[in-house]
Amino acid sequence: MSDKEPLDDWLETCQAAALAGGRELLAWRGHFQTREKAPTDLVTDADLAAQSAVREVIAARYPEHAFIGEEQPAGKREFSDDDLVWIVDPLDGTTNYVHGYPCYAVSVALAKAGKPLVGVIYDPVAEECFVAVAGHGAWCNGEPLQISGATMLAQSLVAISLPPRVQRDSPDLLDFIEVVQVCQGVRRTGSAALNLAYVARGCLDAVWANLINPWDVAAGVLLVREAGGVVTARDGGQFDLWHPPFVAASGPELHDALMRVLTPYPRPSNDP
Ligand code: IPD
Ligand code: CA
Ligand code: CA
Repeated sequence: MSDKEPLDDWLETCQAAALAGGRELLAWRGHFQTREKAPTDLVTDADLAAQSAVREVIAARYPEHAFIGEEQPAGKREFSDDDLVWIVDPLDGTTNYVHGYPCYAVSVALAKAGKPLVGVIYDPVAEECFVAVAGHGAWCNGEPLQISGATMLAQSLVAISLPPRVQRDSPDLLDFIEVVQVCQGVRRTGSAALNLAYVARGCLDAVWANLINPWDVAAGVLLVREAGGVVTARDGGQFDLWHPPFVAASGPELHDALMRVLTPYPRPSNDP
């Protein structure tokens, strides 16, 4: 068996699972119920159906693997660094989905010891399937992905992922105010997974998030890296999937430039 063989099998499963989730998202359009998990943090029948569909595909092929889905989160401590773990956001962009705004995706990744090995982000409306394999590259619908190569913020289109609820003095808005003044534009798409996929494709140049979860970014971080980009933790250190605030950019120069503009993280406390 070659080194790549298990990766190929995992990728095939990853893709099949994401496509199954995407079919559920399309099927539930127009007749789903919505509830709030927390203020302005929505979940629908479609999130739950997509997660079940994804899980079914994975469990049928790899019943021994661990599974973390946004809608049934399990603590990291339930598995060890030796375990293979599927990390799934069955619907990234739920608020967009609820309003019929066509920017949402299924994100599925397989990781070991906190390192994503394969990842898929599937946008069922655009019928775009972004895939990445650690050490082997990234593609969308079979076409290789490559970051833009932008080096200057003044020539960049950048995105932010805001958390579901934003306060007036939140670091996210403070960051937004700083960055929007020095680049060509800042987008808030409502899908962290698609933000990262778009950095991998080169139609966004950078993206960052202060409050984010592993299932939002596990596949996307791999896509950016395999397309030639840089991802660090939000403080500039090594990216940590289990504590995933991050800064991603098309290359080290743009990453450094963005880091210089973003507010310090974590923010200094006001406590004496
Ligand atoms: C959200 C989206 C959004 C990001 C939020 C996430 P959900 O995921 O990725 O872009 O800003 O932090 O919670 O709730 O739609 O899966
Ligand atoms: Ca999400
Ligand atoms: Ca979700």
